[in-house]
Amino acid sequence: MNVRNPNTSSRGSNAILWIVIAGLVIIAGGFLIATLTPTVLPAEASAQAVQVDQLFRFMLTIGGAIFLLVQGVLAFSVIRFRARRGDMTDGPAIHGNTTLEFIWTAIPAVIVLVLTIYSYQVWTSTRAPQPNEQVTGVVGARFAWTFTYGVNEADLPAGVTVEQLPPPVQERFEQDGQIQLVANQLHTYVDQPVLLQMDTQDVIHSFWVPALRIKQDLLPGRTTEIRFTPIEAGVYRVVCAELCGSGHGDMAGTLVDGNLMGAWLVVHPDEATYRREFLEPEANRVLFPPEDPVQLGRQILGSGKYPCATCHVLTDLGWAGNIGPALDGVGTRTQRLAATGAASMEEYLHDSLRNPGAYLVPGFGNLMPQFNPEPDQPNYMPEEDLTAIVAYLLTQTGQ
Ligand code: CUA
Repeated sequence: MNVRNPNTSSRGSNAILWIVIAGLVIIAGGFLIATLTPTVLPAEASAQAVQVDQLFRFMLTIGGAIFLLVQGVLAFSVIRFRARRGDMTDGPAIHGNTTLEFIWTAIPAVIVLVLTIYSYQVWTSTRAPQPNEQVTGVVGARFAWTFTYGVNEADLPAGVTVEQLPPPVQERFEQDGQIQLVANQLHTYVDQPVLLQMDTQDVIHSFWVPALRIKQDLLPGRTTEIRFTPIEAGVYRVVCAELCGSGHGDMAGTLVDGNLMGAWLVVHPDEATYRREFLEPEANRVLFPPEDPVQLGRQILGSGKYPCATCHVLTDLGWAGNIGPALDGVGTRTQRLAATGAASMEEYLHDSLRNPGAYLVPGFGNLMPQFNPEPDQPNYMPEEDLTAIVAYLLTQTGQ
């Protein structure tokens, strides 16, 4: 009679019990890793962030379980099959196991296929056009971001009609059906889908808002797009994620003494607040520009329309950049006239913006963008903007 050894049988069922327990621990561990890891990420501020994080958690669950399985088997083998004292024998010679190899090829193949389908679905869904999008232009230039908003008739501040605009503004408005306003921060409001159309004035930059979980490169000679729908009001940091030169780090929003400096995304709680706190005051500034060129120049530079703030010190506007020469006192720096051959400080400043590479202040590299007079050229700066900026800079006579 063939009696089963009771010892072997209980060892077999014990092993199955342990494998089941280990399997459950591994799966639970995978879920734990997927739940705990995202707690170190920034808040989910967009509808896209929710989808991206769901995909991320899904991948972390699988990746975490595989990590625990591999490390668990490794640790178990190191302890269980270690060489005992005095044991000089070799292990058994094993030449592959077709079943095992089939399983460990088939399971990853299925996982990769599932992840491919899921990722593709998230990719297309986060980039799909939304109804009623706010279209905002993004320009990256060394070393700042500027955001361009179109103000059309419906966006005019309450009680303002096209007929009331100053003649030159009215003319531009009627020509293009809207007027562009430029700011150095990106404003929108909760549940408003946003389409960003991005261009670079020089090298590759990358627009990244960690809280939105979106990132898109800006490529020379090509307009790239990215979409998001904010779901939570707040102020979020905009970052440049492509090394673009010595001021690359300055293309990220920073806090200086509690003030937002540089590029930030401001999500207002609703449309009324967005219009009241951002659109109307900014539109008023562009629609009714001050007549005094000094005031106009100060307003243009203060708006962030041109990327000057990150590179220059200008105390009057709170700029603290150190990549270019300080602009404090630039209006009386007459020693530059002899070096450049300019006839007046006005001419010197004018030429410095139109052709910054022609004369470099000792100690500074040729990094400043050349601001060109024609609309179809990169870094377009109309002559009237330049005249106003120079008029304002001439008043900077302090330290
Ligand atoms: Cu722009 Cu880095």
